[in-house]
Amino acid sequence: MTHPTSSGSAAPHSTTPDDAEFGISRGLTNYGDKGFSLFLRKAFIKGAGYTDSALERPVIGIANTGSAYNPCHGNAPQLIEAVKRGIMLAGGLPMDFPTISVHESFSQPTSMYLRNLMSMDTEEMIRAQPMDAVVLIGGCDKTVPAQLMGAASAGIPAIQLVTGSMLTGSHRSERVGACTDCRRYWGKFRADEIDAEEIGAVNNQLVASVGTCSVMGTASTMACIAEALGIMVPGGASAPAVTADRIRIAEETGTLAVQMAKTGMTIDKVLTAKAFENAMRVLLAIGGSTNGIVHLTAIAGRLGFEVDLKALDRMSRETPVLVDLKPSGQHYMEDFHKAGGMASLLRELKPLLHLDALTVTGRTLGEELERAGPGFAQDVVRPFSNPIYPQGGIAVLQGNLAPGGAIIKQSAAAPALMEHEGRAVVFENAEDMAQRIDAPDLDVTADDILVLKNIGPTGAPGMPEAGYLPIPMKLARAGVKDMVRISDGRMSGTAAGTIVLHVTPEAAIGGPLAHVRNGDRIRLSVAGRELSLLISDEELAARAAASPVTRPSAERGYRKLFLQTVTQADQGVDFDFLRAATVRQTIPGAK
Ligand code: FES
Repeated sequence: MTHPTSSGSAAPHSTTPDDAEFGISRGLTNYGDKGFSLFLRKAFIKGAGYTDSALERPVIGIANTGSAYNPCHGNAPQLIEAVKRGIMLAGGLPMDFPTISVHESFSQPTSMYLRNLMSMDTEEMIRAQPMDAVVLIGGCDKTVPAQLMGAASAGIPAIQLVTGSMLTGSHRSERVGACTDCRRYWGKFRADEIDAEEIGAVNNQLVASVGTCSVMGTASTMACIAEALGIMVPGGASAPAVTADRIRIAEETGTLAVQMAKTGMTIDKVLTAKAFENAMRVLLAIGGSTNGIVHLTAIAGRLGFEVDLKALDRMSRETPVLVDLKPSGQHYMEDFHKAGGMASLLRELKPLLHLDALTVTGRTLGEELERAGPGFAQDVVRPFSNPIYPQGGIAVLQGNLAPGGAIIKQSAAAPALMEHEGRAVVFENAEDMAQRIDAPDLDVTADDILVLKNIGPTGAPGMPEAGYLPIPMKLARAGVKDMVRISDGRMSGTAAGTIVLHVTPEAAIGGPLAHVRNGDRIRLSVAGRELSLLISDEELAARAAASPVTRPSAERGYRKLFLQTVTQADQGVDFDFLRAATVRQTIPGAK
């Protein structure tokens, strides 16, 4: 069956059931008659003014995460316009569609609680709607992992575009940016070093434009990881949100998406074991957010890859931190971009990378590095011979307090506290901590170790970024800047301190952390990769028997689904039913 186009000629595109699944004909709604389904679909889309000629093109979906609640994606309209231009220049038909958008500060109880929901939304809308490739526009912390998780499960060609970093602001001539400086200034305010008027003035300067946090927080980390995975336009990680470079990257993203659709470059051809190993190297070398490993684990899990944390730690010992960005270093994302962005870093890491990993351009990572040209003098990406930290940013700890592992961002920790034994000061949950941490009579000294329970995947729930426990007020006012802090939660990638995170299994499902008591001795040895509760196995078992823990539950809704199916940090905090059915390879370990 053929039918007339808007210009009156016969459309070469048939609506018979024998049509190859391509473009607008993909994934037809089931009315029991495929020909009728396509006929109906075309009738409706023509209501928006499309011609048959337009509907013959490869369809490129654009996941639009613009939202008034998400200023990190405030440039989404301009990016979508540029992506559409790129798609049309390459002969495709752009179709943008909304998905959930998640902003860190507008997500209650925590953005991580919603990441998997966003990944399900992304996956199912890619599946449900006809598209030959998809452009994922994300940026704020949980959005890029959610999109890559969903797209990995959906399986069609996919390319990531990030919104780009915000500009830095200035407070009394000091350069400031979200959110390392948010925490630093709030710490000063808590310690009575600045007054309410000044903290109010700082508040106006921390976020100087739309875009994602300007330091090496989770958003920047995930942008760099996406480029290292090869799932992004080369050079696409670092351009700030409000620059011409960002718009050009968007246009190029659209063009590449059409090429990927035409060549059938599905996401599994890009997100290989080698690509994940490259991403792990980059995570370590950028001093990236600790959240990055959780997200990488979750994305890899969708494709049947299991991350070996001990092997990651071995990688960490041979991968120095080279990128001098806050919170591990001094600079901001816009400086990284001017310093050449990811190409400058990847050149230094070359001997440690799988240069034969394929990227969305159809060329390998090594070929793209050649195309990026020679490096130049700059002071943001250090040479391998002169790192800002001699090992990778993240160390993996083991011990009787964390049988499933825990991590510490060693590059942002105080050297004096990396080998430390101290008395536990225990908070049972976030509310308990909020009520007592600033109490004048809290029994605490600077040598103690603060322990916060029940902020893990099911505990809070959603594993909030509450692992950055504040220094108790009376110690902060006495000038204490850092203490060893331990929890089963996460912390913002923009935070710094001697902070042990992701203790697995979490307290809320009966991990050993649940049985730590005030006054227990705890030993942290980053050099020895050890996190130990200094009590006997018998005593720990007796405490567990005396205080059995019941996994949290809920009556209904998403919360019920979340609490019943969320996995632990070592499995990416994904829902168990969303991971690939079988593990086909452990990474790192690619040949
Ligand atoms: Fe969106 Fe930091 S709050 S990236």
